[in-house]
Amino acid sequence: MSTKEVIDLRSDTVTLPTEEMLEAIRHAELGDDVFGEDPTVNRLEEMAAAKMGKEAALLVTSGTQANLVSLMSNTRRGELVILEAEAHMYWYEVGGISAIAGLLPWPLKSPLGALDPRDVEAAIRPRNIHFPEPALICVENTHNRHGGTVITPNQIKAISDVAKAHGLKLYMDGARVFNAAVALKVDVKELTKHVDNLMFCLSKGLSCPVGSVVVGTREFIDKARKTRKVLGGGMRQAGIIAAPGIIALEKMIDRLEEDHRNARRLAVGIAKIEGISVNLDVVQTNMVLFDVSGLGVADELFLSELKENGVLALMNAKNKVRMVTHRGIEEEHVEKAITAIENVANELSPSLA
Ligand SMILES: Cc1ncc(COP(=O)(O)O)c(C=O)c1O
Repeated sequence: MSTKEVIDLRSDTVTLPTEEMLEAIRHAELGDDVFGEDPTVNRLEEMAAAKMGKEAALLVTSGTQANLVSLMSNTRRGELVILEAEAHMYWYEVGGISAIAGLLPWPLKSPLGALDPRDVEAAIRPRNIHFPEPALICVENTHNRHGGTVITPNQIKAISDVAKAHGLKLYMDGARVFNAAVALKVDVKELTKHVDNLMFCLSKGLSCPVGSVVVGTREFIDKARKTRKVLGGGMRQAGIIAAPGIIALEKMIDRLEEDHRNARRLAVGIAKIEGISVNLDVVQTNMVLFDVSGLGVADELFLSELKENGVLALMNAKNKVRMVTHRGIEEEHVEKAITAIENVANELSPSLA
């Protein structure tokens, strides 16, 4: 990134493929994946299943499609799904959980994204003619709207115990599950072993241009493959998507640590700026949420001034800015971003400076 370039901290989805990924796309061995004949897709799916300690996997177009395919493959229409109140599936997936999957989402609040097993237990009402059948519990790891917070293996196990006791399935939206594994310094299987099935994204911190992967039992994935087809997600020479995915699984996981270090550096720098507050305990992976209410200005003005100063960010809620580190954001960009935020804060609220 040159000094003139914009520092884009809106999301880790803005990462571009590496040269090696582009080369792999160019040379990928291809076939028709709807016929199960794309060798590169098959290889990625086998690798993903092995990495997650599950029987099988399915490449899909996006995280949203992965969640929808998984919801539909885990449930029947009219059933009840327990999830965290800030879950991506509940907030940002265009209501597909109800509009397409026909499910009743049952949101439960939590302070940092990890469901309290006692709340889950309480939400599972007895079977009764008046109630929808509970079918599925969902966890999100890392938790996006809570600021990239990590759910630990023990927390997942506690929810899994409740799910099992009531005959429900447990699903993980693991869009950034490798960030969680890297932050906790555990093999990702520690995070997947207590869930029935999950998805993870290739197109976020792992730098792929497209794609997510659903993982679970062979039976579940066979069903998911058909569900993907009805949603129009059956792809043909999808090896061009799978090829960079293979490189992502081989080479892009360990470097997430760097993104986490940069997020912390960014958070610590921002925390020193007058009128802005950051809860450093919540900065656990590659996201930083900070509160700009102390500046007393409109969110849109803060973001547009920041953009003028060469830094892009998003709002997570009123007065709450979200920044995400990723490949392409180096220490120097973090320092520049901190300076830009400080300049904007001083400009907008000179009395605080
Ligand atoms: C936790 C989580 N789940 C699902 C998604 C959806 O992924 P996509 O944007 O690929 O549809 C996202 C996207 O940011 C996410 O953060």
